[in-house]
Amino acid sequence: MEKKTAKLLQGVKTLSINCRQWGDTGKGKFVDLFADWADIIVRGNGGDNAGHTISYEGQELITHLIPSGILYDSHGKINIIGSGTVVYPRTLNQELKGLRERGLSYDNLWVAFNAHLITPAEIVLDRIKENVAGQNKIGSTGKGIGPAYSDFIARQGLIVNDLLNPIFLWPKLKRHLNYYRNILKNYDSDLIKEIMNHEHLESGLYYDDQRILDDEKIYFRYLEYGKEFKKFVFDTDSFIKSQLGIKNILVEGAQGDLLSVKFGTYPFVTSSDPSVWGLAEGIGLREANFDLSLGIIKGFYMTRVGGGPFPTELGGLNSERLCNKEGMNREQELKSYGEISVNCDDDLLPGHHDDEFLQGIALRQAGQEYGATTGRPRRVGWLDLPLLRYVLTFNRPDIILTKLDVLDELEIIPICHSYQYQGPDIFWRGREIHHLDQLQVAIPAAEILQYCQPIYTEFPGWKKSLKTCKSFADFPSEFKEILKFVVSETGIQPRIISVGPDRKETIFL
Ligand code: GDP
Ligand code: IMO
Ligand code: MG
Repeated sequence: MEKKTAKLLQGVKTLSINCRQWGDTGKGKFVDLFADWADIIVRGNGGDNAGHTISYEGQELITHLIPSGILYDSHGKINIIGSGTVVYPRTLNQELKGLRERGLSYDNLWVAFNAHLITPAEIVLDRIKENVAGQNKIGSTGKGIGPAYSDFIARQGLIVNDLLNPIFLWPKLKRHLNYYRNILKNYDSDLIKEIMNHEHLESGLYYDDQRILDDEKIYFRYLEYGKEFKKFVFDTDSFIKSQLGIKNILVEGAQGDLLSVKFGTYPFVTSSDPSVWGLAEGIGLREANFDLSLGIIKGFYMTRVGGGPFPTELGGLNSERLCNKEGMNREQELKSYGEISVNCDDDLLPGHHDDEFLQGIALRQAGQEYGATTGRPRRVGWLDLPLLRYVLTFNRPDIILTKLDVLDELEIIPICHSYQYQGPDIFWRGREIHHLDQLQVAIPAAEILQYCQPIYTEFPGWKKSLKTCKSFADFPSEFKEILKFVVSETGIQPRIISVGPDRKETIFL
């Protein structure tokens, strides 16, 4: 271990890594990086809505459910899918197959017996709801995450352990599917059929013309999955508790604080709590058990996938519409707009492209901001300090900044330091908020955030490659100026800077 890594991890036995924005900030890279230090790596929340990218030996591995420490399985490290996750058996089966095809082992993979199961019925409902939601679409990944977590709270969900007991599985599944049959009756039958013929739902295997859901087919398929997973299934919460303070435990979050059902930009959020609080609960611990919690942000920009307010989005509504257009992906976008330079047109003032919409596409191209799970273009905007100040109200200040190399060529880098509220007068959390008030700390509720206009401070860009920087001293003065501003405005404590996807492109401060 390098000297600086050793210093950061001095006295640390339990380390959490999660995101302080709307996801996709590089959790995969950093969980893989710290897996070298860890003995146990555990995912605490979410399901296969996540896509975590690991760059290794010139290759890319994207994990969805399997923890991003899996490359260290061959070193004897234990990777755990924790009790706070939701597991779709087909995805787990496919991910295991993918690992085998790459010659990667998963001998020490464990799955919590009490992690919740995602059923085909939940996936159908997730997709139907999005289909009929119109303007209120959340932009869900369509993996059944929302219904699966709701069913858990509504006491009608199934757990991974049910796959191992036919006598429990059958009555629970029948009750669950009966309930769903009644709900699905209210929706367009052709649409249901189309959804159920999707590959993700095993291309129609679970569909029955008369009864919508074929109970027997689901039951027998799920039993097969149970046989495959049996050797992995344990009481992981008790195990983790027993290893606390003894082994090095690395906790991996999915999504991000702003997508938290508890703290995020509700209702445009996921259905789990990806904050350190939710993560701790999702592995059977308490937040206070984390000796160090590293939160990741992109420096100095942000992205968001799906719907919901995004005050600093480049190109505003036009960008949101483009990114959320049916079937839109990297190839489609390239066909329509070609390759664009981040400073855009030569005729315009440096960095002041008057069509921010195009600059957003250019930044998306520079940062390769296309979803690791769905391939959707990620909406791009400038770093938003009111949102960062907000997440710091329930987090410790230690931060990893990633993707700084993406801004290498920019002439001007705007940072949003506050908002002007341009909505109707309202009452919020015991205080009044008036039209034209200035806000330093964001209010995460979507209906308020939509009226917040960002106010920017502009900084000159560094205009050179950061890839050659080996220590903080090597960073250009323009970069240091921006970082100093962000630190003094928010109180973050930057611990690590990332200038590329590779493990080596990492600078410890
Ligand atoms: P996660 O969901 O937080 O794990 O992030 P994703 O894997 O969805 O998206 C992050 C993307 O950025 C991946 O393609 C990473 O390989 C890549 N990445 C991570 N850190 C850096 C960095 O510092 N610079 C660049 N250019 N790419 C990075
Ligand atoms: P990682 O772990 C970015 C978003 C979806 C949608 C909302 C709800 O790779 O950072 P869901 O399928 O959870 O019901 O969708 O949350 N979303 C993510 N956005 N990164 C993710 O995961 C996400 N997981 C869900 O786009 O807006
Ligand atoms: Mg991701």
